[in-house]
Amino acid sequence: MLNPNLLQRNAEQLLADERARYLETHPRSIALSQQANQHFLYGVPMHWMNDWGTPTPLFVAHAQGAHFTCADGIDHTDFCLGDTGAMFGHSPAPVAKAIAAQASSGYTTMLPSTLAPEVGVALAEHFGLPYWQLATTATDANRFVLRWARAVTGRKKLLVFDGCYHGTVDDTMVDVAMAEGFEQDNTINRASLLGQVHDLGLHTIAVAFNDIAAVERELAKGEIACILTEPALTNCGMVPAKAGFIEALRALTTQYGSLLVLDETHTISTGRGGWAKNNQVIPDFLVVGKPIAGGLPAAAYGFSAELATRMKAAKDSAPAGHSGIGTTLSGNMMTLAAIHATLTEVSTEAAYEHMLTLAESLEKQLTTSIKSHDLPWNITRLGARLELQFCAETPKNAQEARAAQNDSLEGAIHLYLLNRGVLLTPFHNMMLVCPETNVADIERLVDMFNECLDVLIQRKCV
Ligand SMILES: Cc1ncc(COP(=O)(O)O)c(C=O)c1O
Repeated sequence: MLNPNLLQRNAEQLLADERARYLETHPRSIALSQQANQHFLYGVPMHWMNDWGTPTPLFVAHAQGAHFTCADGIDHTDFCLGDTGAMFGHSPAPVAKAIAAQASSGYTTMLPSTLAPEVGVALAEHFGLPYWQLATTATDANRFVLRWARAVTGRKKLLVFDGCYHGTVDDTMVDVAMAEGFEQDNTINRASLLGQVHDLGLHTIAVAFNDIAAVERELAKGEIACILTEPALTNCGMVPAKAGFIEALRALTTQYGSLLVLDETHTISTGRGGWAKNNQVIPDFLVVGKPIAGGLPAAAYGFSAELATRMKAAKDSAPAGHSGIGTTLSGNMMTLAAIHATLTEVSTEAAYEHMLTLAESLEKQLTTSIKSHDLPWNITRLGARLELQFCAETPKNAQEARAAQNDSLEGAIHLYLLNRGVLLTPFHNMMLVCPETNVADIERLVDMFNECLDVLIQRKCV
């Protein structure tokens, strides 16, 4: 096994070489970045688009299926897929057709379109919960669900897991303080937050994922309105739930009068209908977002019949006026058309079978590559979603996942692949397979990954 210090030095050298190569080969993206800098903060429509690890942002000219072409005319196989927004491929044909058909019949009216009942049927059939509401982003869907959960339980506190990400929902932007001077388990604001003036730890408790004793300790205090979690942590690397953990959350929330909210925005990669449906766990609320309208902004939250009754009671007994739940454009006509096309024609059993088969093959090939280079790393897979982690065993909680992170290695691998037309998801090492990904795309990633590891352990020069 290569000495870790040597590997680190090689990664830093490779990163420097690849940054130079990127600058040489992307003159058009560089020019666009300079132009956009005149009116956009950091030269990008969203400030974090500048944080991808490329020397300047990569501008996209065209995206279709599992590929996109950048401003410099280079074809890329896309394993990021808009970090799940394009999990069903870029511009799926049925969605493009539905959008085109709706395009001349109105976009938004603040009234339900005639398609609304059918969209309700599609959501219920697809995800297995009987009642639904829409939102424009998964962030908003989570935010609204927290409101409902607090309203119906009359409790103020929320329980989340260390390392969670549920979009930019203020209540969830917490860390577990480990610094000296803090008690273990002290929930504090994430240090990176901008402009947050509230002490989020007052109403949010974070504990370690897979620690059922810590969960029960908090639930037993009788103050928790709901637990909000993904069925596996997918945003701090990937941390799968131990066998029975989510089922135990289900049982304990019921026992202590709290609600269970499963955020399946990313774990709908596990199978058609998501992890909960495929594992026979019925949450009180289920949140889905990102790809449910084929990549157009849309999200939804489903709930049980019992919850629907409690929600109506809370709403009907509140004074008239703002509920604090909802936004003007949510559930617009265009979005309904796109959700309907996605759920009925794109997110099919056949599409998932293809995605899962290829993802399994990719997992095997990447694992073989890692082993043949004698590196202490692993691939963790959740359906169509794979994560490369710089540790020998899959992490059991966010602390272990954080310990495995290595910015230089991550930066070098991402940029090496990107410079050879393969895109991974930024901020960690996620690869997603879509219905249009094919065997040649998988081979391209595996070949480039192998080559990259050869260079990193210096079996080969760049
Ligand atoms: C699990 C999970 N929930 C919610 C969100 C928020 O999605 P959006 O940014 O579309 O609001 C994300 C975003 O990455 C996510 O990973």
